[in-house]
Amino acid sequence: MTFEPQVPDWGKKLIGDNLNQLIIYHDWLCNTGIKTGLISPKSKQFVWDEFIVHSVYFGKILSELPGEIDVISDLGTGGGIPGIPIGITTNLTVNLIDVKEKRIFELSRLIKILNNNNIFAIQDDAYNHIKKGGFLVSRCFISSKKVINSLKTNKNTTYLVSSNGEDLDYDSNLFHVKHENFKINKDDIRHIDVINVK
Ligand SMILES: C[S@@+](CC[C@H](N)C(=O)[O-])C[C@H]1O[C@@H](n2cnc3c(N)ncnc32)[C@H](O)[C@@H]1O
Repeated sequence: MTFEPQVPDWGKKLIGDNLNQLIIYHDWLCNTGIKTGLISPKSKQFVWDEFIVHSVYFGKILSELPGEIDVISDLGTGGGIPGIPIGITTNLTVNLIDVKEKRIFELSRLIKILNNNNIFAIQDDAYNHIKKGGFLVSRCFISSKKVINSLKTNKNTTYLVSSNGEDLDYDSNLFHVKHENFKINKDDIRHIDVINVK
């Protein structure tokens, strides 16, 4: 099957001149990423739509948030998803956090290949960062429900979490949650919950 690095209309401006860097990352995921077990074997189109395009939407939400953001942490980053595409398409400093040494080792090599100076790979337990608060993102690592139960309500925190689009039970005195829906290609809709501690 032919592979098409399609970009939905919502992503065209954000990706701008960085399409080539995203294609280099896509190539790395499809080869080194699969060989080293960072992702399971998938078609090239699946990797593009589900991992790259999906991740770019996290960057779109971050770039549209009010106020200044300098640093974000991608908790349970695995193969750098969504942190690497966020780092490629924005000026944010991105910390890729994973508990597994092997993943951090491979991601550090990838960052050198991309010649990128705003992305850092750090071996750590995600829950240390959830306790500290700040700007956090996760795809397929933690549920929104668990985020609501784990965040400290005395810390300023915005956490973007991939979700299945289900309604979420939470105390609206303590949290504000916005559900974002977007297309990753012409057919498939995905969801991200933007969870703010009030
Ligand atoms: C299902 S993978 C998701 C990876 C990636 N975010 C994605 O969307 O493909 C979950 C990742 O979380 C990492 N992980 C599990 N528990 C963790 C913890 N307590 N702290 C940091 N990383 C953790 C695992 O090593 C794995 O790489």
